[in-house]
Amino acid sequence: MINFKEEIAKIISNNTNINYVEIEQYIETPPNDEMGDYAFPCFRLAKELKKAPQIIAEDLKSKIEKNEDLIEKINVAGGYLNFYINKKCLISNTINEIEKEKDNYGKSNIGNGKTVLVEYSSPNIAKPFHIGHLRNTLIGHSLYNMYKYLGYNTISINHLGDYGTQFGKMIEGYKLWGSEYNIDENPIEELTKIYVRINELCKKDENVLERCRDNFKKLEDKDPYCVEIWNKFKELSLKEFNRIYDILGVKFDSLNGEAFYSDKMGEVVELLNESGKLVESEGAKIIDLEDKKLGVCMIKKSNDSSTYATRDLAAILYRARTYDFDKCLYVVAYEQNLHFKQIFEVAKLLGLDEKYTNGLEHVSYGMVHLKDGKMSTREGNVIKVNELLNEAISRVEKIIEEKNPNMEDKKQNAQIIGIGAITFCNICTTIIKDQIFDWDSILNFSGETGPYIQYTYVRTNSIIQNIKELPKAEDVNIEKLENKEAVKIIKLIYNFQDIIKQSAMKNEPSIMARYLIELSKAYSNYYNEYKILVDDLEEKNARIHITYITGLVLKIGMNLLGIDMPNKM
Ligand code: ARG
Repeated sequence: MINFKEEIAKIISNNTNINYVEIEQYIETPPNDEMGDYAFPCFRLAKELKKAPQIIAEDLKSKIEKNEDLIEKINVAGGYLNFYINKKCLISNTINEIEKEKDNYGKSNIGNGKTVLVEYSSPNIAKPFHIGHLRNTLIGHSLYNMYKYLGYNTISINHLGDYGTQFGKMIEGYKLWGSEYNIDENPIEELTKIYVRINELCKKDENVLERCRDNFKKLEDKDPYCVEIWNKFKELSLKEFNRIYDILGVKFDSLNGEAFYSDKMGEVVELLNESGKLVESEGAKIIDLEDKKLGVCMIKKSNDSSTYATRDLAAILYRARTYDFDKCLYVVAYEQNLHFKQIFEVAKLLGLDEKYTNGLEHVSYGMVHLKDGKMSTREGNVIKVNELLNEAISRVEKIIEEKNPNMEDKKQNAQIIGIGAITFCNICTTIIKDQIFDWDSILNFSGETGPYIQYTYVRTNSIIQNIKELPKAEDVNIEKLENKEAVKIIKLIYNFQDIIKQSAMKNEPSIMARYLIELSKAYSNYYNEYKILVDDLEEKNARIHITYITGLVLKIGMNLLGIDMPNKM
């Protein structure tokens, strides 16, 4: 497929002697189509050429001998040089590329030979999988899909929170009252009750707290009884988490959680010792990061037990050696911003190649707030994700029952739409922003929602399924797609791969989500303007074809976000 941006950069480069790769970086997409398809801001060259941007633009325009097959028109506006690409060329390029690639449209090999680790979900065992972990899982899963599509060797890691002093408490609580609770039936809920109860006792009784600390120490020293109970917690918790992952269609390549690093922390302490930066403070061992305004990072507690940070540092060492990663992404809520700044700083003291320390990246995201207070059960803000997902499905079932009671595969479609709605709502705004969760808006089939995109797709699909034969790209009369509404769609589809790249490189799946809304809107516009199945064969073929490629791209895009498409709606 022709890369218009690159071609334009080359034309400018030929007339300025500035490398086209540099020029290409500056090329922008104008805010509206009237201003052209690509714009080059000439002020970027003002310093180098010692001329005013307006003059550079006029100059370039007069020098450029444009290839009419590629570029229709060039305009000067202010200090910008605006390029209007040849629409026929754009259309034929795009539809031929899709014809060639089909379900793989947009795939790339820019990532070949590079490894990206995406760490996400990472719930704490024996604790509820809350709505924050849900958002985390959905963001991480979509990033994982996109990096993979771009050709990266991509590894998903669920860094389970299965270690730490709280397990000393859990073990103590279990010892004291385990038989009173029905743990096998309802593990997380019951274990949470035990946890709340033991915490209260700890506040009242120093001795109990001491025993809890001791339990964790024993666990670290592989005491058989403590390990056995801990294993039980882990198994039961994973069973519950897996139920959620199954509904969401999420899988992990590695489940190495914090405990996995229990025997790998000694080396971290040694290396930090050798760096000369590890100091004693009130019996604990710390790295002082005050000079970087990052407080102190605790490496070992005064009772010699390990910390969350040390486990993360051991994980960095392990991952660098095991995966030789180019990027290691941590999808974790912004509450842990300081933690990641600290460990990334301390990681520089481990003697690792800079490739690794530069590749560490915290993908920080905002909280989810519930508008509908009803869902926030029990522990204040902790809502049960299982219930939430099931409620989404049953709400959709109700809508289907009202609107389309005879639909086939009702149950399956309700699940796809309900889960799609929740997934989309979690990733459609810039991830660092907090997100408000509200049933009415996420399930609105005509709002900016997952179901709206699914609905648009189903519409395209029902047209395609009812025709005898799909017109081939070569049989499409390009002129029939040269209208404003069609060009808008084609331009979006042409940009699809760029959107995947942007979403991945910026770790921002919301870019893809917004794009899919825009594409759906563009198609709805087209659909309202042009009847698809008209008598004129050329018109009909062109309209069917654009319907087909829109559906295809909507599906690939949604799948990248981790969302399936229903066959009916
Ligand atoms: N388990 C932690 C939590 O639920 C998140 C773990 C984040 N990942 C990490 N490598 N520290 O808050």
